[in-house]
Amino acid sequence: MSLFAKKSIELLMKESADTEKGLKRTLSATSLISLGIGAIIGAGLFVRTASAAAQNAGPSVTIGFIVAAIGCALAGLCYAELSSSIPIAGSAYTYSYATMGEFVAWIIGWDLILEYAVGAATVGIAWSEYLNNLLVNVLGLKAIPFEWCHSPFEHSLDGSIHGYMNLPALFIVSVLTLLLIRGTQESAIVNSIIVITKVSIVVMIIVFGWSFINPVNHATYIPAATIYTDHQGIAHNYGGIMGILGAAGVVFFAFIGFDAVSTAAQEAKNPKRDMPIGILGSLAVCTVLYILFAHVLTGVASVEDFRTTGKEASVAFAINKYMIGFGWLGKLVTVAILGGFSSVILVMLLGQSRVFYSMSKDGLLPEIFSDVHEKYQTPHKASLFILILVGLFSAFIPGDIVGDMTSIGTLFAFMLVCVAVIVLRKTNPEMKREFRTPWVPFVPILGIIVCGAMIFGLGWTNWLRLIVWLLLGFIIYFTYSKKNSKLRN
Ligand code: ALA
Repeated sequence: MSLFAKKSIELLMKESADTEKGLKRTLSATSLISLGIGAIIGAGLFVRTASAAAQNAGPSVTIGFIVAAIGCALAGLCYAELSSSIPIAGSAYTYSYATMGEFVAWIIGWDLILEYAVGAATVGIAWSEYLNNLLVNVLGLKAIPFEWCHSPFEHSLDGSIHGYMNLPALFIVSVLTLLLIRGTQESAIVNSIIVITKVSIVVMIIVFGWSFINPVNHATYIPAATIYTDHQGIAHNYGGIMGILGAAGVVFFAFIGFDAVSTAAQEAKNPKRDMPIGILGSLAVCTVLYILFAHVLTGVASVEDFRTTGKEASVAFAINKYMIGFGWLGKLVTVAILGGFSSVILVMLLGQSRVFYSMSKDGLLPEIFSDVHEKYQTPHKASLFILILVGLFSAFIPGDIVGDMTSIGTLFAFMLVCVAVIVLRKTNPEMKREFRTPWVPFVPILGIIVCGAMIFGLGWTNWLRLIVWLLLGFIIYFTYSKKNSKLRN
């Protein structure tokens, strides 16, 4: 059988109806939007925005958000068509198995590890920054020593202390893995409460922060193109078009998650109607909030702040330093963000375990990953394995690096999803589609171009990381997965 052996749509549907190893169908449209927003607003907004302003685009990070939103909307329309016609756990991985064959499906599944597992690690690291802020600025305690909340690749601003490992990041991903193993529905309820808090916080920062915008900070909205070298010695394209594209690639992270809704298709009550609503609804809400938020944040504090003392826990820093009389908001934000980040990590871990579940049912990963817990009906063994993976990334790699790896991996998956829509329209024109992507192939092609531009903006170190990751995936595919594939045998 060829590398491009495809699963038939009928087989996929039959598998989804298979209840023996099946998952519970408990999620409604509202819980899906909530799941989406829960996954979307997080470290991308509260940590990566300031870092994109500092390293790439200054205030024009807002334009970066617009580029990223356009890319997401285009890919989102493609995701919605696929998830409404193939309502099965596993997201882009499953869709590509049906449309472009096993090898491409493997590449996507492998690539999605960057989105979900490495993404969860990125947010875990951001959580660790705000935990320190909680200890110092809210509780008046001492900060966790630098070496125990930073990776070995980082040193303090003055260069005197080196990191060992990021313990708080490791802690939070471990706790959330255990919560996830207890069950999706329970986690979704906790998630809803967090989502409401998170959205309120963002709105408050926009409303109260608006009057603290210092026009000086916005004087050069799009900085002239130059190279900025950060305190770790890493060079970035700053300013101009490349700065904006780079910023778009970085803050693209803030949108990741709306597609995580599609990984829960098998647990949705009415997937055909609710998946498009869940995906596009959550994306729309967030886009508006992000642009306003970034405008306020870069107006309140300066790029220089975000390069130095305001590099970590940047939002709380900006409030505490410049928004006089709003100390309470700084505290509230810190507490809310810690909860908010947790919900993001939860959804990413959920997405990852479901992708592993699907890949394992197909024989591309060991069978153990599709074992479902007798009592909780969750793929607990997959979750525990993912914890090891996420734990290693969050403890030993810097946040900027895992963040960019997440962005580039996801952008690549989005491009393949756009391709899948075009292919599936040709190969399965008669298939019932509850939601149809408008203007095919124009929308998917534009999606490929915009996501490709952001990959370009992320720079060669990130291209290299993606290539190495994919090569690693090829090795595993040809030594294990190809031989064990159920479809082939
Ligand atoms: N979009 C999610 C976040 O920003 C991944 O944390």
